[in-house]
Amino acid sequence: MENDNYFKNKNVLITGGAGFLGSSLAKKLVLLGAHVTILDAMFPLYGGNAFNLKPIEDKIEFIEGDIRNKELMDTVVSGKDIIYNFAAQISYIDSKDDPFTDLDFNGKGHLTVLESARAHAPQARILFSSSRMVYGRILTTPVAETHPTEPLSLYGIHKLLAEKYYKYYAHTFGMDTVSVRIPNPYGPGQQMKHNKYSIVGWFVRQAMEGKEITIFGDGSQERDYLYIDDIVDAFIELTKYGVAGEVYNIGTQERMTFEGMVDAILAEVGSGVKKYIPWPESYEKNETGNYVADTTKIEQITHWKPSVGLKEGIARMVAYYKENKEQYW
Ligand SMILES: NC(=O)c1ccc[n+]([C@@H]2O[C@H](COP(=O)([O-])OP(=O)(O)OC[C@H]3O[C@@H](n4cnc5c(N)ncnc54)[C@H](O)[C@@H]3O)[C@@H](O)[C@H]2O)c1
Repeated sequence: MENDNYFKNKNVLITGGAGFLGSSLAKKLVLLGAHVTILDAMFPLYGGNAFNLKPIEDKIEFIEGDIRNKELMDTVVSGKDIIYNFAAQISYIDSKDDPFTDLDFNGKGHLTVLESARAHAPQARILFSSSRMVYGRILTTPVAETHPTEPLSLYGIHKLLAEKYYKYYAHTFGMDTVSVRIPNPYGPGQQMKHNKYSIVGWFVRQAMEGKEITIFGDGSQERDYLYIDDIVDAFIELTKYGVAGEVYNIGTQERMTFEGMVDAILAEVGSGVKKYIPWPESYEKNETGNYVADTTKIEQITHWKPSVGLKEGIARMVAYYKENKEQYW
């Protein structure tokens, strides 16, 4: 990777940094010579896991805290060159049952970090982990950033709200913010405790336990499954080259069906079975239709290209969980 000195001695904050994406990025940034601070509330049913940070625990600063705590965030953002604001309520299912928590975390929480940064780190590069869920029902694929945004979940609505905050702070206050729309991520470090988000992880667990994996409908719905190392590399590249106030898709450009993903897991694990059931009504209402990202925009400003295919990524993931099962179950 060119320009690797970019991160050397940079002061970096990652909120939600004990979780899947944040901890994976933290490991890479430590390697690149950054001084990494992680802030995470360590809510029990989220992906925060001290084991994710074990390989770098002596090389980072860890703060247990909540992004909604303005006083704390005022202190934590001070002196930071780069801020990755990854803390979130992530389950679109829970966002329906508990909309105020979703708004509190994904709206107010992010506004709090932006307000703290405006006062105490106005020059910081700030990256936000948004989601493909902002698009809602997909009208045309591949999906470009200009595709209409009509989210089908409160999670998607609040992610879109946060994107607008980031854009507003760039336009109005000249802050250096970039949003990244992530498709379906998977890989080592993903939470495996429940199926409310990060479905690939849950299916790997089901297969490893020899259980049934439930597929809604015929499993022909297409998704864009992006391996964690490729996500980390995209964030690294967009930190360097992303244009302030902009939003970028990332994705594989591979059309993979839901059934194809399940087959890859079953083949790699060697146990577990598929079960097809009709779409439950509650899920059908939120189904977006086939999704594959158009990644032309990021490719125009970086050399980023995903490099890990689904089969290889699942193999690495399964090997990791076979070795470290007791840390995640
Ligand atoms: N996992 C997915 O399917 C997916 C898909 C698209 C986008 N994203 C986005 O990527 C980001 C990271 O997701 P992840 O997969 O790493 O999830 P994760 O659950 O592994 O990590 C999220 C972390 O945020 C922490 N957190 C939550 N609320 C917090 C708060 N108020 N203050 C401080 N910490 C808090 C949790 O304790 C957890 O460690 C999120 O913004 C999410 O919306 C995730």
